[in-house]
Amino acid sequence: MRQDWFDHARFGMFVHFGIYSAAARHEWVQNFERLTDDEYRPYFEHFDPDLFDAREIARTAKATGMGYVVLTTKHHDGFCLWDSALTDFTSTVAAGRDLVREFVEALRAEGLKVGLYHSLLDWHHPDFTVDANHPRRDDVDAAALNDDRDMSRYREYLHGQVRELLTGYGEIDYLFFDFTDGAEKNGWPGKGPQDWDSEGLLALCRELQPGMLVNDRLGIPADFVTPEQYQPTSPLARDGEPLVWEACQTLNGSWGYHRDNTDQKSATLLVRMLVDSVSMGGNMLLNIGPDGRGAVAPRDAGTLAEIGEWMRLHRRAVIGAGHAPLSPPREGVYTMRGDRLYLHLFAWPLGQVHLPELAGKVAFARLLDDGSWLRITVTDPEQEADLMTPAGQAEGTLTVHLPVRRPDVLMPVIELRLSGE
Ligand code: GLC
Repeated sequence: MRQDWFDHARFGMFVHFGIYSAAARHEWVQNFERLTDDEYRPYFEHFDPDLFDAREIARTAKATGMGYVVLTTKHHDGFCLWDSALTDFTSTVAAGRDLVREFVEALRAEGLKVGLYHSLLDWHHPDFTVDANHPRRDDVDAAALNDDRDMSRYREYLHGQVRELLTGYGEIDYLFFDFTDGAEKNGWPGKGPQDWDSEGLLALCRELQPGMLVNDRLGIPADFVTPEQYQPTSPLARDGEPLVWEACQTLNGSWGYHRDNTDQKSATLLVRMLVDSVSMGGNMLLNIGPDGRGAVAPRDAGTLAEIGEWMRLHRRAVIGAGHAPLSPPREGVYTMRGDRLYLHLFAWPLGQVHLPELAGKVAFARLLDDGSWLRITVTDPEQEADLMTPAGQAEGTLTVHLPVRRPDVLMPVIELRLSGE
């Protein structure tokens, strides 16, 4: 199936890069500050990605345990990171480089799956109508700006650019369209599938890249759904059918490089979000926003290196793992891979952890970081006098005995080898 590699990988990297990276104050800066094309132009004129090194990004993703990387080909500001024949607003014109080509080649060299992000919005295109999200929405003559704008011409441009991306760069494994908010806002009509001709775009994707996964943000169902900056608390389903899903998450709340934002998440929190996603049958796409020169910011590189060190020892509890149909103890969550059940401990209990329903079903237990054996016992409700028997555990509970000291890793994991059924 199309999504097999994706379900298996579980962990990917998102890369938001563009001329907004040098503005260094969020990728929506043009919208937030109502910048005119002229005011935004300097970021194009002075675009200088001399430290954008796609091979380094690919190696970093791999060392972090990620199986795929997704690059912004064009964000809402309309700037294109490839050599598009349909506009001059490109990285080739600004800096003489086709960054999409560098990116896809680097990923393939590392054996990683190739993902592209493409915004359906375009604040630069002269036919894209002003709406509630457009930087020009508060101009005195804002409504009149739409008199000459023609979305059918924009649609042609959008389809033409998607065609370029899906024909000029070999096999593409994944496409993340962004976004559709539909509803009318502040008196401006919303945009939706009819504006993009979503059915036509999806058909184009299927025709040009039949094996490629497409997300849900065309506003019509496709291959996977994309919770953004929140974590689902149960496996996702629609009409009783499980959904393939991927939570996309930032390192500090901003997707594009934001120099003065200090809301950096800890590596521990990010690992917790990752295993939480896997425990609910989903993926996590973790974003980096390379800086104004295209370099991976040192604070991000540091966080990824910590996660990578954890993944080095615990990858089998993430990659190829998924939801386990069992109730975890209150200290953590389970992931499962074949006959191995992994207990990720968000909190370290004193001496023992009690696992409901698992008595008699586990052949061997160990800490995953160092492979050290853990003693397991079964609660016997008859033997309450025995002080070594944990009191109050329901029948069928398996007790795993732990050292007092928590292993010195971001998240301790117990590997349980299941026996029989
Ligand atoms: C949102 C934001 C955008 C970001 C995207 C990532 O739609 O508009 O800036 O690229 O989410 O999922």
